[in-house]
Amino acid sequence: MAPKSRQSFQLSALPVAMFAHLVAIAVMALLLVWLLHFRDGAPIVNGDWVYLNSRGSYNGIQDCTSNKKVFKFHNELGIPDMYTLHSWLGLSTICLFGLQLLFAFFAFLFPGAEWSTRARLAPWHVFFGIVIFFMAILSAETGLVEKFIFLKLQRGQEALIVNFTGLLILLFGISVGLTVLLPQRY
Ligand code: HEM
Repeated sequence: MAPKSRQSFQLSALPVAMFAHLVAIAVMALLLVWLLHFRDGAPIVNGDWVYLNSRGSYNGIQDCTSNKKVFKFHNELGIPDMYTLHSWLGLSTICLFGLQLLFAFFAFLFPGAEWSTRARLAPWHVFFGIVIFFMAILSAETGLVEKFIFLKLQRGQEALIVNFTGLLILLFGISVGLTVLLPQRY
């Protein structure tokens, strides 16, 4: 069997990274169409990606700051917190992301570990970076599924938009995963 080599992909990371960017733009475009056209509201409230429609019901495209709003919203309506797989995945993703950031800051920036220690830590930093990235993809996918069910969507334009958003998020994850595997230059 031929030895494993990244060169054997015969492709460099650059075109795949460009493709990943295009997919990310397409995801954002679909989200805008969904939120503005189908959910009659502005997607950017107080500068973050959260959408609270005129009836006050929660429709979230999450980022860390808007999670606080979900908890607040759940409390106001007496809905229990953290009971879904989506919420467990989402919170673990945020926590691990914070830990990764903190750890890397101390190890690589300030005060910074010995060079030999940094070299040993780097592959683990990359590995956990990939894990956290795919956890974020999973959180977004499960979030979309939940929203789909809560809205009782079946067939129709809005259902198509939500499902295509999910497929594109998956394609984004796959292409970013591939860029990590591919050599920088071929
Ligand atoms: C990386 C992205 C995401 C993260 C980190 C995340 C995180 C979370 C967390 C921690 C909760 C629990 C709040 C609580 O229990 O009070 C939650 C709830 C919720 N999220 Fe997300 N979320 C993400 C993406 C999405 C997306 C894309 C949607 C749908 C468009 C969505 C829809 C919901 C809904 C409907 C709830 C309330 C029901 C529940 O607790 O599961 N989320 N999210």
